[in-house]
Amino acid sequence: MYKLIAMDKQINIQEALDWYIWAGVTETCSDEVCAFNKENQPIIPKTTVSAMRSSSVLAAQVPASGALVLTSFAALKNAKDICAKATSLEELRELLEKFDGCNLKNTAASTIFGDGSNKAKIMLIGEAPGADEDRIGRPFVGRCGKLLDKMFTAIELNRADCYITNVLPWRPPGNRPPTDDEIAVCLPFLKRQIELIEPDFLLLLGGIALKSVMDCADSISRTRGKWLEYSISSQKKAYVLATYHPSYLLRSTAQKSKVWTDLLRLKKKVEEIS
Ligand code: URA
Repeated sequence: MYKLIAMDKQINIQEALDWYIWAGVTETCSDEVCAFNKENQPIIPKTTVSAMRSSSVLAAQVPASGALVLTSFAALKNAKDICAKATSLEELRELLEKFDGCNLKNTAASTIFGDGSNKAKIMLIGEAPGADEDRIGRPFVGRCGKLLDKMFTAIELNRADCYITNVLPWRPPGNRPPTDDEIAVCLPFLKRQIELIEPDFLLLLGGIALKSVMDCADSISRTRGKWLEYSISSQKKAYVLATYHPSYLLRSTAQKSKVWTDLLRLKKKVEEIS
């Protein structure tokens, strides 16, 4: 949620409002229009809607100058090179916070890194932060997160024993589905988290996580509940299980029993190998 509170002559109000709507703002705090940051300085949108639309979705800026627009290929290579430098989750988090190669960062309030133990045996991967996560700055803290907590408690697994993250560290405007380019440029950060944690299990929540991590074109409904394998390195593989995303369960409660079956399958395998 952004605070729209006052007016400043320097700002084209229509452009600013268009930008906020485009960015997924759904609430205002008062009748007055325009934006001030925490220091009471007027916020001028970094990018206007027309500029966003005319630029490549994957247009990336070199962090130092903020001026150079890279091609999609270069943005992806840049992300991979950056990730390769991280030798710990803390370093990776810092690098992600400085990374300016994905346009989603322009409209999100927070950069949301993974959360949980860096020695976790189970890693949960969702799609992208929602409005609550964007406001609070942690993954799965809204309605989906509450449902996930309940589901894990039901199988006697504690969220604290897991590491939880998303394919995308930034909320897409208005919760729209992420584009393939946005996924591609964020994926190196997710894959590096997997390499640094080396979990035994990956639980993929929803179709976007399945498609992104496993490069799998098959639907979530056909793939859920089946054991797959992910090569973390030449020595380490993780068991992979995909299931429906909690947001889908909030809309389609009839599918809960399928996720329950998937979670029991996960629990059984965790017990078998530990
Ligand atoms: N949905 C997700 O996929 N991730 C979150 O962090 C929250 C909701």
